[in-house]
Amino acid sequence: MDCIDLMKAEHANILELLGVMRSACCRILEGAPVADADFRDMIWLVRNYADKHHHGKEEQILFVEMVAHQGQIAENLIQHGMLVEHDLGRLYISNLEAALDRYAASPTAMNKLDILANAVSYTDLLQRHIEKEDAAVYAFAERELPKDVMESVAEHMRQFEAESEARNFQSKCLDLLAQLKEKYRVLN
Ligand SMILES: [Fe+2]
Ligand SMILES: [Fe+2]
Repeated sequence: MDCIDLMKAEHANILELLGVMRSACCRILEGAPVADADFRDMIWLVRNYADKHHHGKEEQILFVEMVAHQGQIAENLIQHGMLVEHDLGRLYISNLEAALDRYAASPTAMNKLDILANAVSYTDLLQRHIEKEDAAVYAFAERELPKDVMESVAEHMRQFEAESEARNFQSKCLDLLAQLKEKYRVLN
């Protein structure tokens, strides 16, 4: 698979995870108890699949080459845009985990509110982030990166994928996502 197509396919999986998170939040609003273990699984997927695996390839491979070869526009787009959003996402997820910990110790409405607020904020941020990457950032890379640089990006991504394949990492993530999707059929 072309390396940009691969990144877009990962976006599709991440969007499904965001749908699961929103659906789990809706269940709480409808009166269900907070599904602590399921939220911990979602956090694990965000940190390992969305962040380490997907953002890892952006931050360590694609974005490095874009900043090196595409001048000020790429610098603004990546360093003052995409990377800031990756960090904000990490903050929402840390806040979500802290809210789950507080709620487990003290199940108050205020702690429940922080679970919902941080989970929904993360989904909103990442959805917009993915739309920008699909429509602008990746398109800019495909259009403007020299062919040999794009080939080197693809080769580094293949190595990254092979390492994760060796650890059976992706199937572990996608199996867990499938289980969560089954449990939280996404609401519109
Ligand atoms: Fe990103
Ligand atoms: Fe991305």
